[in-house]
Amino acid sequence: MMEVVVLRLGHRPERDKRVTTHVGLVARAFGASGMLLASKDVKIKNGVMEVAKRWGGNFYVEICENWRAEVRKWKTEGGKVCHLTMYGMNLPEVIEEIRKEAKRSKLLVVVGAEKVPAEVYKLADWNVAVGNQPHSEVAALAVFLDWLFGGDELHKKFEGGELEILPSARGKKVLKKAVD
Ligand SMILES: C[S@@+](CC[C@H](N)C(=O)[O-])C[C@H]1O[C@@H](n2cnc3c(N)ncnc32)[C@H](O)[C@@H]1O
Repeated sequence: MMEVVVLRLGHRPERDKRVTTHVGLVARAFGASGMLLASKDVKIKNGVMEVAKRWGGNFYVEICENWRAEVRKWKTEGGKVCHLTMYGMNLPEVIEEIRKEAKRSKLLVVVGAEKVPAEVYKLADWNVAVGNQPHSEVAALAVFLDWLFGGDELHKKFEGGELEILPSARGKKVLKKAVD
């Protein structure tokens, strides 16, 4: 599977707690390897990591104090950067090119909160809109990852962990795994 990491910019601890947590949960559930959080909000990191521990897989969250340095390092290492913004090129026009590149190089997907600094638009290899209408970073990330992975991410196995859902047409079935 491709290596995709999400960079969450502009998180305001007092306002964005729930949305940033959802960015992390969507990143994990839709096939990303990890999330870099450009804010020293350890509570968000711990909350998402707690879910990851219970539900399995290797997803990680890292606090990234200097996101500019992180993006430059990512690019120096040969990684590509895709910034999700309603002002960008519409997803259907660019997804094939991005998918092709992401099979060769790791991909950093940047999502903002409020206003994203102008330099992000320049640093990005692609500025991509999930439709050119304003909506949400959570929705944009979910749709982008689903198009990138072509739906395969929904079959991803999350090894380890304590809980696993046994899909059922009605009711809730959850397997509690033996943990050593
Ligand atoms: C509350 S929105 C702010 C909208 C912002 N003015 C923009 O540049 O998209 C927060 C984040 O949601 C994401 N977002 C919102 N609408 C989007 C869209 N249509 N396509 C891609 N990303 C979008 C972007 O990552 C944005 O930084």
